[in-house]
Amino acid sequence: MTALESSTKVQLGGRRGGPDASTVRQDRWWIQPVVTVAILTAFVIYSTWAAFQNKNYFVGANMGRDLISPFYSPCLGGSCVPGAKFAFTWNAWTLSPALLILIFPLGFRLTCYYYRRSYYRAFWWSPPSCAVADAHGSYAGETRFPLLMQNAHRYFFYAGLIFNGLLTYDAVLAFHQPGIGWGVTVGTIVLVVDATLLWLYSLSCHACRHLCGGQVKSFKAHPWRYKFWKFVTPLNAKHMNFAWASLVFVACTDIYVRLVASGAITDYRLF
Ligand code: FES
Repeated sequence: MTALESSTKVQLGGRRGGPDASTVRQDRWWIQPVVTVAILTAFVIYSTWAAFQNKNYFVGANMGRDLISPFYSPCLGGSCVPGAKFAFTWNAWTLSPALLILIFPLGFRLTCYYYRRSYYRAFWWSPPSCAVADAHGSYAGETRFPLLMQNAHRYFFYAGLIFNGLLTYDAVLAFHQPGIGWGVTVGTIVLVVDATLLWLYSLSCHACRHLCGGQVKSFKAHPWRYKFWKFVTPLNAKHMNFAWASLVFVACTDIYVRLVASGAITDYRLF
């Protein structure tokens, strides 16, 4: 049998899916979409629950700590507990303060190029994997509402940078234990790792790389943009890793703060 005879026929412009949709792939291509569905579903359920809790999101001076959950920072609502309040608050907002701000990190993740690929594959099977037939008969791309909104990604990126700055500030505050002094607790490390992973996720963003090096005909005339581009390019190659690590860890950070604030565990001081 010649190589030509053993190859799979490809029909360009043919049907994208249908009743006899199939694949010749023999590997376990379905594992990736299944894992994606499991992690994203678990995150959405947990973060929705946490956002509506409106309690146990801050560990304050009464416990000798200054730890705030990333889901509630900056705390802008009228119901924010003392010590957690941001420089200004919207007192008319009496629902959970998390609901005021989560649209920004959520919008950033939802419109992320990497997550788009992942959830289009995992939830919509469009297509579920490379060389596996699409579950849909037609394809309109991202040219119509609501998917047209995906183009707002770069603006969510800008908003994400502001949030990263605020969460970095929270991490710095976590080094101060009111009534005790400066030091490091497990909570300090948790908040520092969380802020670091969020920065890595943002700096590895495709929009960030384009901002640094896009639409430049010659780097010679833009030495600073070249430096930034050189810095973010290797991070960009690991964007998928940072996307998952930061997603999981931001939930872990909320869980940690919640457990300390509720008295379920102690935030141990290391030094
Ligand atoms: S591409 Fe993923 S955050 Fe921008």
